[in-house]
Amino acid sequence: MALKMEEIVSLCKRRGFVFQSSEIYGGFASCWDYGPLGAELKRNVKNAWWQSVVQERDDMVGLDSSILMHPKVWEASGHLATFNDPLVDCKNCKSRFRADHLKNLETCPTCGNKGTLTEPRQFNLMFKTHVGPVDSGDDSNVAYLRPETAQGIFVNFPNVQNTSRKKLPFGIAQVGKAFRNEITPGNFTFRTREFEQMEIEYFCRPEDAPRLHQEWIAARYQWYLDLGINPEKLSLRPHEKDELAHYAQSEDSTGTTDIEYQFPFMSEPSELEGIANRADYDLSQHAKFSGEKMSYFDPQNNEHITPYVIEPSAGADRATLAFLVDAYHEEEVKPGEMRTVLKFHPRLAPTKVAVLPLAKNKPPIVEIAKKLRADLAKKFVAQYDDTAGIGKLYRRQDEIGTPFCVTVDFETVEKDNAVTVRDRDTMLQERVSLDQVRGYLLEKLDL
Ligand code: GAP
Repeated sequence: MALKMEEIVSLCKRRGFVFQSSEIYGGFASCWDYGPLGAELKRNVKNAWWQSVVQERDDMVGLDSSILMHPKVWEASGHLATFNDPLVDCKNCKSRFRADHLKNLETCPTCGNKGTLTEPRQFNLMFKTHVGPVDSGDDSNVAYLRPETAQGIFVNFPNVQNTSRKKLPFGIAQVGKAFRNEITPGNFTFRTREFEQMEIEYFCRPEDAPRLHQEWIAARYQWYLDLGINPEKLSLRPHEKDELAHYAQSEDSTGTTDIEYQFPFMSEPSELEGIANRADYDLSQHAKFSGEKMSYFDPQNNEHITPYVIEPSAGADRATLAFLVDAYHEEEVKPGEMRTVLKFHPRLAPTKVAVLPLAKNKPPIVEIAKKLRADLAKKFVAQYDDTAGIGKLYRRQDEIGTPFCVTVDFETVEKDNAVTVRDRDTMLQERVSLDQVRGYLLEKLDL
């Protein structure tokens, strides 16, 4: 049975992965808060990305630029003029749609009335605000919440290149919030108005761009697989010409390819990440609008060039949702007995280990268990739980995807100074000496 979105939303709320924003006030449309487990999961996703694209690579560096930027940035980038979606309203039921999401513009998909949809009109997706205590009433102090983190990277290209002394090809990565006044947000955290991006701008010589574009598509696809995504649900889709973003439309670009995931509650595979060839569009535009040099001096050929850019741009929330949905399994453990288990890759699991005392009223057992948790917590997230019987505690940990449970029992104290380690997926148990538990878990978790 395909997993329904309500089931994921309900598990997320019940176990503290994701809550509706401002819930005590009835919620706030399409905004979500990550609870204790969700915050860990999303942080693990971002860390895994950073490790793979910055830490492990010699040709990449990181950046953390501000959300508010000079308004000229958005003129230069083309967002002010072209970052629009076509909006239509139903005059009868007041529903609102993106025209490009409708099969026909004759009939309202909500109320079914014919001829009640307005003509499409262009709606800019950027959130506008005013900087400073006074709203001047005109546009003199207007600023925008960034709709992509990418522009913070482009405008810092000379700073980063001068200070890091990187030679082409090299890239700059950043993780951060982006904001879009989406016309039709929805599907839980999949499309929201405030979200987090994990973006790379990879600068290269123009002639290397087609090859590097392919290399990045392969590398980014592999990242999802390495973190355990079901390969049958993951696919690549090159954009059609008419859906290319304004920065990937030039003749010199090799377009955009999306990495898509088949969510069980969506009819078609949906975009997790786009890998675009932005050519020299952004650096050239910023050079033109700022009057500054955005070029690169190539010492080998003694020439100034404007680098081309390959941009793997991923959504942290979408990746988190995909890993969560993909990890979800319902299994029959014994005839008539089911369990829900999140089979996260150990690196993504919010809690790595749960330490469970078999008897919560026996001081020697509790003492050993608490000491063990504190020792393990120096290396990874470890939980202590004594609030139910062992069977129930195992099910609880399965449901939040904890890879290992460690049980401290009477034998630990009285006999062997060892504990029982239970594997989430196989449910097999092994006796491990107390002084070896940390090393055993570190090896198995392969963090
Ligand atoms: N700099 C290029 C860029 O922003 P994009 O395809 O518009 O490209 C990149 O966005 C990624 O950001 C998407 O693949 C998606 O994962 C995420 N994203 C975009 N809009 C989103 C939204 N409204 N809610 C959640 N994630 C979103």
